[in-house]
Amino acid sequence: MALPIAVLISGSGSNLQSIIDKIEQKVLHAEIKVVISNKPDAYGLTRAKKHNLRTEVIEHQNFSSREDFDQAMVRVIKEAGAEAVILAGFMRILTPAFIQAFPNKILNIHPAILPSFPGVRVQAQAADYGVRFSGCTVHFVDEKMDNGPIIIQAVVPAYVSDDGQSLGQRILNWEHRIYPQAIEWLAQGRLKIVGRKVEVRDCPPVFVQADETAPAFVNPGLEPGF
Ligand code: GRF
Repeated sequence: MALPIAVLISGSGSNLQSIIDKIEQKVLHAEIKVVISNKPDAYGLTRAKKHNLRTEVIEHQNFSSREDFDQAMVRVIKEAGAEAVILAGFMRILTPAFIQAFPNKILNIHPAILPSFPGVRVQAQAADYGVRFSGCTVHFVDEKMDNGPIIIQAVVPAYVSDDGQSLGQRILNWEHRIYPQAIEWLAQGRLKIVGRKVEVRDCPPVFVQADETAPAFVNPGLEPGF
């Protein structure tokens, strides 16, 4: 049975694309019921339409409060029949009421190794700081920003020559692999939150890609197809 999901975006939607691709490859057992953007010009909307997905633009500035904006999204998501919410570059902070509407069913991807570098434009922050490693994190969403229990992380090297752009692209390539994997585990009911930790039932061991061009550590490991 495919997990019915809503994907929330604000921009390019490359993570949305990776989710669409894995669904079409029948590796990810999810069904995108609706793609919601708070920006009418988000390129992710074009991607969604190319795959005949339902799209909705809900512009936050048309609402007098965060609560009203979020309730409008909750209505659309529920009416579309989605049970889980996938934040894929969605640049708004969600209210407690939104989070409580989908308990333990909201995921986010963040382009850093949390809890380091929460917030925005973190690829440039990490590059400028001179870290030797950065990466990406998929986590459950709770009421604090970039804070919920961590499902999977991928670590990539950062180089002295990096800026936010080059490091960000290296990270993004792994976002596209770990996010569909995490969603598949959610779809299969294999994630159990225990306090701050997430147990992934029968997960593979650490995945190591040791090649020179795109080295990475991924924990838990990726399953075939991801
Ligand atoms: C990604 O780097 C993601 O980690 C962050 O926002 C960016 C979205 O990129 N939350 P895209 O719209 O999926 O291409």
